[in-house]
Amino acid sequence: MPSELQSPTATLLQHIRETIEANDVWRGHTINLIASENVLSPAARRVLDSDLLHRYAEGHPGGRYYEGTRYIDVIESLTAETLRRVFQAGWADVRPISGTVANEAVFSRIVPQGATAIAHTVAGGGHISHARIGSLGKRTKNILPWPTLADGYSIDPAAARDLIAKEKPAVAVLGRSLFLFPEPLAELKDVCVEHGTRILYDGAHVLGLIASGTFQDPLREGADVLNGSTHKTFFGPQRGVMLSPGGDEELTKTLDKGVFPGSSSNHHLFSLPSLLVSALEVEAFGAEYARDTIANAQALGAALARQGFAVAMADQGFTQSHQVAVDVSPFGGGKDVSARLCAQDIICNMNLLPGEPGKLAFAPSGIRLGVQEMTRFGMGADEMEAIAEFMKAAITGGRDVRAEVGALRDRFPEVRYGFAASDLD
Ligand SMILES: Cc1ncc(COP(=O)(O)O)c(C=O)c1O
Repeated sequence: MPSELQSPTATLLQHIRETIEANDVWRGHTINLIASENVLSPAARRVLDSDLLHRYAEGHPGGRYYEGTRYIDVIESLTAETLRRVFQAGWADVRPISGTVANEAVFSRIVPQGATAIAHTVAGGGHISHARIGSLGKRTKNILPWPTLADGYSIDPAAARDLIAKEKPAVAVLGRSLFLFPEPLAELKDVCVEHGTRILYDGAHVLGLIASGTFQDPLREGADVLNGSTHKTFFGPQRGVMLSPGGDEELTKTLDKGVFPGSSSNHHLFSLPSLLVSALEVEAFGAEYARDTIANAQALGAALARQGFAVAMADQGFTQSHQVAVDVSPFGGGKDVSARLCAQDIICNMNLLPGEPGKLAFAPSGIRLGVQEMTRFGMGADEMEAIAEFMKAAITGGRDVRAEVGALRDRFPEVRYGFAASDLD
């Protein structure tokens, strides 16, 4: 068929294929330190391509608005059941198609128009969906920042308690995009209960670490809702999830409506089996992976410090998550430095540093690094040391490291901590 096509369509089709292949080849030879990304195992990838790519299934298994969902119901029920088990949650909704959509579902139902909310600012590491210009901002502009300690980043628990008691917000949002340390959730729970404040813990970044018990346990510490992306430190395809301890039917009923019809209708069924496979991988391999990921992040922080970089939160051990933040202002700032690194096949993003004013979002002093993907390919402390040295050379212009970066990456071609494609046979 394609051979019968006339140019320019045939040329364009070839160009599409070649562009995708070029990306595959290039990204496969880079060191990817984007903190919000990860890769699928061969098994989780194998189940993406099926008839489910074409189908719709609004509602819940057993209560659909469409016919033809008998097998979809099996997959969706199993996925929800598995995620409830992984997180020891009484309730799970697996339909949000991303973390932002999950946040939208929550805010739309538990934040009355114009109500008071408390959330991290973007400068404080918060996500844009918690901001006045984001999802929360559609409900209220009255969003107060969390009070912080002298580092300008960590929540000041005593001041936060006072703020909650004074303002009685409808929602308190914990969790961030620059997420280096656990939040003082347990210390805030009782004051939130006393003043009718719901706690949303946005675990988009750290969901995989939470699942394996290596970060903090929001559902036991007092979160009303735990939202997350399923594809950052969790092993899954790009989707979202909402979890709750259960036992509060009024809350879960309203959250359910927030998802459908609130923030999604059809929920991209093709990737549900992949989420199910990846949740089983988290059960099997998640604890070891999370430990290795956090150890690698701490190793990268220490190695960068030895290379002479000012790594954020050095006095607190750099990080307890998959992320590290580095002040690169002496080398031209985050925008310049991330571009220079990308030219040498080390990929990361510019980022505000802890406590840096939000107005600098497009010219921040820092870069944010995440080691979760390289860890999934099996890299360890020695490779973190090598990456730090490559970064120093790339940033200071000391030498061209592209060939060395590619050679290091090529030693780790296989996704670990997961199932093989043949495990599905
Ligand atoms: C704290 C936080 N919440 C929500 C999101 C959005 O997740 P998604 O990209 O799955 O919509 C992000 C994205 O990185 C995030 O950092």
